[in-house]
Parts: sequence; structure tokens; C-alpha cells
Amino acid sequence: MDKIKSLLTMRFGKEIRTHSMIHHEELMTKLIKLAKVQSIVEIGTLHGVSAALFASLGLKVATFDIVASPLAEEIWKYLDVSSLIDYSICRDDEEKKEILSGRSFDVAFIDGDHHLDKARFDFDCVKRCGFVIFHDYKPHAPHFKPLADFIDSLTPQRYIFGEPGSQFAVWIAEDSNQRENLDLLEWLKAGA
Ligand SMILES: C[S@@+](CC[C@H](N)C(=O)[O-])C[C@H]1O[C@@H](n2cnc3c(N)ncnc32)[C@H](O)[C@@H]1O
Repeated sequence: MDKIKSLLTMRFGKEIRTHSMIHHEELMTKLIKLAKVQSIVEIGTLHGVSAALFASLGLKVATFDIVASPLAEEIWKYLDVSSLIDYSICRDDEEKKEILSGRSFDVAFIDGDHHLDKARFDFDCVKRCGFVIFHDYKPHAPHFKPLADFIDSLTPQRYIFGEPGSQFAVWIAEDSNQRENLDLLEWLKAGA
């Protein structure tokens, strides 16, 4: 388990994991496998570690950031997943919105700027896919609380999974086909 985390740490050092969700590789792998999705949009690439995980699970990944990382392409090449990843560095949120409006995808992973206005903007850009994962659901951390409150206000009600202190939230629209995915719903309801 934690295959990508170990491989990348060996090659790039443990700093590569800083600020990355890769600490939760096992949980995220389980979620993606249960959801049986084929494509994902990610907001917040950083060094491409989470994008590498998604691609290693066979997903087509469209990943967006506003800052380019010199390491991202190197990491994807090292793991031989470059052909599955489409990397967009956007000038600003409007450009990101414009590019996203022309894409279709099965699930979205929001892990960019965690300030409420920015994360809400990102949610609005991707919610039409009906299946959205938020990283850093932290209702007890002052910096993250407004975002957690926003996630809590969504309908249908979100699911939370992961260890307290560093959790993910999942929103599934009423008309999403994931509502028929009983294995996924059961796993989420159990708090993963
Ligand atoms: C927590 S890191 C992403 C970590 C990555 N998803 C992972 O798990 O390996 C957040 C990233 O969001 C980017 N970011 C900040 N504001 C953004 C915005 N408005 N749109 C897209 N990305 C943004 C930052 O430049 C940073 O690289």
C-alpha cells in the first residue's frame, strides 16, 4: 500500500509530500476504485503528486493550477503516467472557468485555494459533474472553518471520510449515477 508515496519519496525526497493528499493514498485509492470513475478534474496541482496517484489508478486527469511546478512533469514521466495527464496553468480563475466549461469529467477534486470565496468558485465551476471531493475539511481549524461551513450547507448533505484533523468531504448530487452505487454509499456512510 502507499505505493506512489513510497516511490516518489525514494526518488524526490520526503518534501515532495508536503501539502499533498498523498498521505491518504490508501483511502483515496479505495474511493476511486469504488466509484469506478474514468476521468477527474483536479484544482490545485502543486507538484503533481495527487494527479500522479489518480493517473496511476488509470484515470484521465485534467489538473489546474495558477503556479507552474518544475517538478510535476518530471514526476509524471518518472511514473510513466504523462499520457494520462492534461496540465493547465491558468492566468487567473476566469481562465480556469473558461477552460473547465469545455470539459466533461466524472468527478472533481478541489484542492486549490482553501479560502471560502475561492473554493466556492471552484465548486461552481465543477459541480455539474455531480460528484465532488474536497480536501482539507477541517471544521476545527480557524483558517478552514468557513470552507467547512460552506460544505456543511450543501444539499444533499456531504459525506466525510478520513482521519479527524485531515479529512475529505464528498458531495454527490441528487441526480448523480453515484447515488445508485451502493458499495460507495455504504463505505462513505460508514465514515470510510
Ligand atoms: C494543497 S496544494 C495542492 C496539492 C495537490 N493536490 C496534492 O495533493 O499533491 C494547493 C495548490 O493550489 C494552487 N492554487 C492556489 N490558488 C489556486 C486557484 N485559484 N486555482 C487553482 N489552483 C490554485 C496552489 O498554487 C497550490 O499548488
